[in-house]
Order: sequence, then C-alpha cells, then structure tokens
Amino acid sequence: MPVIPVPGRQRTWAALTPATAYVFGVESADDTRVVQHYWGPRLPGAALAEVTAGATAWFVTGFHDPADATELLPVDGGRRWGVPSLQAVYPGGVRSVELSFERAVEHGPGELELVLRDQVHGLRVGLGVRVHDDTDVIERWTEVTNESGEPVHLLRLDSGAWALPEQAGTRYAGVAGAWGRETRLHRGELPVGETTFTSRTGTTSHRANPWIMIGDAGESGGEVWSVALAWSGSWRLTAQRRPEGDVAVTAGFGHDGLTWPLAPGAALRTPPVLGLHTTGGYGAASRAWHAYARGHVLPTPAEERPVLYNSWEATGFDVTEDGQLALARRAAELGVELFVVDDGWFGARTDDTRGLGDWWPNPDRFPQGLGKLFDGVRDLGMRTGLWVEPEMVNPDSDLYREHPDWTLHYPGRRRDTMRNQLVLNFGRDDVRAWALAWLDGLVTEYGLDYLKWDMNRSFSQAGWAEGGDLLWIKHTLGVYAIMDELRARHPGLRIESCSGGGGRADLGILRRTDQVWTSDNTDARDRQAIQEGFSYLYPASAMSCWVTDGPNPVTGREVPLRYRFHVAMAGTLGIGGDLTRWSEAELAEARELVAAYKEVRPVIQHGELRRLTGTPGVTASAVQYTLGDRVVVLAYNPYKLDERPPRRLRLEGLDPDAVYEDGAGARRHGAALMHHGLTPASWAPFGPDYRSEMVVLRRVQDGS
Ligand code: DGJ
Repeated sequence: MPVIPVPGRQRTWAALTPATAYVFGVESADDTRVVQHYWGPRLPGAALAEVTAGATAWFVTGFHDPADATELLPVDGGRRWGVPSLQAVYPGGVRSVELSFERAVEHGPGELELVLRDQVHGLRVGLGVRVHDDTDVIERWTEVTNESGEPVHLLRLDSGAWALPEQAGTRYAGVAGAWGRETRLHRGELPVGETTFTSRTGTTSHRANPWIMIGDAGESGGEVWSVALAWSGSWRLTAQRRPEGDVAVTAGFGHDGLTWPLAPGAALRTPPVLGLHTTGGYGAASRAWHAYARGHVLPTPAEERPVLYNSWEATGFDVTEDGQLALARRAAELGVELFVVDDGWFGARTDDTRGLGDWWPNPDRFPQGLGKLFDGVRDLGMRTGLWVEPEMVNPDSDLYREHPDWTLHYPGRRRDTMRNQLVLNFGRDDVRAWALAWLDGLVTEYGLDYLKWDMNRSFSQAGWAEGGDLLWIKHTLGVYAIMDELRARHPGLRIESCSGGGGRADLGILRRTDQVWTSDNTDARDRQAIQEGFSYLYPASAMSCWVTDGPNPVTGREVPLRYRFHVAMAGTLGIGGDLTRWSEAELAEARELVAAYKEVRPVIQHGELRRLTGTPGVTASAVQYTLGDRVVVLAYNPYKLDERPPRRLRLEGLDPDAVYEDGAGARRHGAALMHHGLTPASWAPFGPDYRSEMVVLRRVQDGS
C-alpha cells in the first residue's frame, strides 16, 4: 500500500492501508505545523481532499491554541501547551523548538519521511510514516540529527503522536500489573487530563505495557484506535484528553527526567510507534495486531512452537546431571519436544547470591561440562535449551571482581543490589563483546536450539560516565544487537524473552525472540486473567505457558491437572512441574493432553483468536481459535457456585452455511453454532470446581 500525495492539495499525503487511511500534511501557511487531518476507515480517493479542510485552529484564545492537538510531533516551543513529543535544550538554555517543513523524501512506495528543520539551531527532524499492503497497522518513527556545531540536549523524543477523531470515544483498554500478575486488563474512562503509562525500570516492565486501545467499542463491535510502541526499555505513553475535547496519544522510549546529549553530527532514531484503526471491537483489534506480529514482527511466525519442559519449578537452583536427566526421561515420555535447563548450571551458582556472570558449567555439578546432559536429552529425541541472564552479575562472582566498572553506577553512590545482583551496562562495547563471545561459545559448543534469556532486576543508580542517560537507550539496543547477531550466526537458534516472568514482552523484543515467558505465576486461575491481557496485543504463539505442580508453588491453589493443561494449551504449551513426583495416572493424563495439543497446535498458535465470553478465571469463559477449516474452543468453568454458567456458548466467525463436525462425529451448521451455540459439558450447572474442555470442530461441508 502506498503513501500518496492527496490530489488537489499541496504538501498533503495519505497513507493508505487495506481498510484505513491516515491523512497528514503541512497545515500552516508559515510551514511550521505538520498535522494529522484524518485517521480512520479508508476513504474514496476523491474524498481525501475533503478531510484536509478545517484543521486550522478554529478557536484560538490567549490561553489556548488547539492546533498542537493534531500535530504529528508537537514540540516544546511556541504556542503549545499540550504534552510535548519533542523537547530540546539548545546552547544558551534556549528551549523553544521552531521547526519548519523542508521537503518530503520517499523511501519506496510505502514509506515517506517529512524533513523539518530548526533553521537557527541546525536540528533536522525526520518524521517517518510507513504502511504495508497486508495490514492496517501504520508505522511511525522520528529521527533527529544535530547538524549544528554545538551540542543539543534532548529531554524528550517520542516516536510520534496520534490524534483521535471527533466522537472516537473516551473508553480505553490497557494492561497493568506487577510480578506474578502481569498484563491484567484495565478498562476505564480516560479522565480529562493526561494519563501516563510508563516504565522507569529499564525494561518494558511488569507494571504496564506500551500500548493503549481507545474506543467506545465492545468485544465484537465498534471502532477502536490502538497505539503501541515497539520498545523493550523504559518508555512513556501519554494519552491526553484535553478539556477542550481532543484526545491524542504520544509515545516514545525513555521516561520523564532523562536528558540525552546529542553531539554535533550525532543522530538519534526512535523505535517504531504503531497506530491501528479497526472496526469489529476489541476482538478484531487484537486479531489485527496478531496478524501484524505474524507478518512483520516475529522472526519465525510460521513455525510451530515445540512443547517444552523447563526445570525451574521442579528443581530451583538444585541442578544436577542425574536430576535433569531423570526429568528429561519423564518429559520425553509425555511427548515433550524441547528440554530447557534453567538457572543453577553455571559458575558457583547454587543459590541467588553468587556466580551470576561466570558462564561456564559449575565444575562440581558438571565436571565434564554440559555435553553429557545435552547428549542425553537429544538421545531422548528432544531439542536442547539453556537459561541465561547475560545482563546481570552477582558482586560475588569472578566477573565482578575483574570488571566492577562494567555495572551501571555513579561515582560516589551506592550500588544497590536486588536479588543480590547488579546490572551490566550493555551500552558498552566491551561488555557486549564479552557477552556475545560466551553466548556464541555456548550455543556452538553444545549445539543449543534454544536460549531462555532472562533479566531479573530493574535498573537503579543507572550511571554511565561516557554515555550519560543514553544508557537507557543503548542498553536496550545492545541487547537487541546481541540477540540479532546470535540469530544471524545460528539460524536454527530460538530465543525466549523472560524478565522475572513477563517483564519484557513487547513488539520490540518479539522482533528477535520467538516467545515470551508470560509470568512466574503458573496458577491456572490467575493465569487466565494474565493471558487475557497478554492476548490483547500479542499472539498465542508468543505466549509461553507451563503446566506446573498442584498445589501451585506460588499461590498454593489446587487446580485439577486437566484444567491446568487447558489453560496452558491456550498459548505455547510447556510443562514445568516436578515430573518425578507425578503419579502414573497424572503422567498418563498429561501424555494424552500433550498429544491432543499437538493435534490442534497450528490452530491455536497461528489461528484467529476470539475471546468469546466471561471473565477468565472468575466466571465461565471460553476462547476460540479458527484456522482454515478447523475450530478449537477451550471452555472453562472455575466455580460451581460463583454464578450460573450460560447454558450455551455461541461461537463466532464461522461460515453460517457450512457444516462443522466435532470429534464424536456430530454435525451442526455454522449458523446454529453461532446464533444458538453449543453446550459445553463443563458448564453443566452442578459439578466440581475447575471443569474445562476442549472442543474441536472441522468444516466438512462448504456453505457456498
Ligand atoms: C525468573 C524466571 O521468570 C524464572 O522462570 C526462572 O528462570 C528464574 N528467573 C531463574 O532465576
């Protein structure tokens, strides 16, 4: 899809996607404002010019000039009092940024860059807009270059601002949480004022996730405008609902209070910020995001994620060759395809107080290295995976004793540890070179198929004598660079992003990882809520879910094995329990469920998701996946007395005239399944807590 000049209008363009249009251009006579005229459903070509009329500030007072509400990048300067997307301090303390439009540069048919310049201070600002022909997601970015001979300091550099049209609505959806309860869905009314979602942790964070959806829509009807930032370090997203009525969102990397020095000749490019307009409610918005992730983000979108086993909950730090092999034998019998050895295999790491940073096999536990263990795993027919935490160091480690200067720190300030660890500065060339060397060495030596890349603490005392606050950007870029290089050197390598559970899940990390550890909380009931929020933006193939022991080690809750499986089967299935303690009956049930998952795996991992009904983990609820002729429904009923479950479950998105057959051979029309519904056995009014089921349907007769 192209970005085209709007016919009959000077310096005005339309970015066209299959179903939407985004119209923008130079609005003011003095060239100083580039505004968004329109963002919504696709318009006929002849109508494009019409939507560019009337953007000029219609009611300017001495206290308010509404023009910046629609600017692509409102700056801190001139008559603007909203949230600035670009703030700079020029020599002499001059703060007012004055940009004027210079030219438009085409980078191919789908990408346009508008070049603006602060003539006095030599700051070049590029505003990029990019569209694709298979998605309605519009990608934006900003790049600033200091073309003056003097340093400039940036206090804010967002990727872009997005304005919502009139009557778009003021209801929003987003996620918030904490360790063990990540990505919990939050919906509400945007208050008049400025609502900021942010991370100051150096990671995407457990507390918030960099996206927002706005629109007075339901799950399956209504317009939704979404904005998401593809970035894995600190970030800020502000939605402003102005008292005058405008609603706009600006988002970018870094949190408030940072200062980024831009030396003469230096440039800084933001990560992409993505905008998406959809009709069809929050469900359709999620499906469009999933399709975008598959089409433009994930490195291996078409691959089926293997069923993995991870030893962490079973062994903690108590990792031994015999112990791991005992688990591996049981895992292989269940049908597991990838065996991941977690924390505790290296250096002097027998608990969390020491050894982090010393990335060689623990000489007491693995005197001959990890070769025998991984050979054993391969002999059992499984792929091999290993846990690493490259960005961290325990002060009690050889690495720290040798390189205390490699951690984030300020001279004369404390270095506070968390989980007994400090953060290594991945902005530094020497630290990155060291990390790449040992990671590459491990993957090569053991022929590893999979790395679980963990990151277990937030930044603090984040000083860097050479780079200053650029650390917050360069650390993340450093992590990206190493992951990218590892993948380039080892095309078969797959990576899981983990950060003390789900602290680093975003569209930036997913460009170089295949899946994300969703949460350390593996309690099936809690997980349902966590997974619901995760599913708003990220596809099921990226959502790592384990079945662990009962009672759950985190919450103590006892949930039947089948229910635990059915919850974990809603994403990429893994097993994380102590299989040496599972009974024969449990192992047999697990074997049957793993086989059932593999049968439907392509539908769940790559199909279209529909959140059918209910409050996951609280009331009867169900999710549906559709791929081609196949439909998979996972239905849950956590409590018998909570409230009467619905009698039937209405499916969505089927062909009304086609006939679908279930596993028992019963046939029903799509129309009946959608408008009348099927009757989940697990929703029968009386029965034990935590009942669940998987219904598999296949279209056997076309309606056409
Ligand atoms: C945090 C992760 O989320 C866990 O799965 C586990 O890998 C531990 N770290 C290991 O220290």
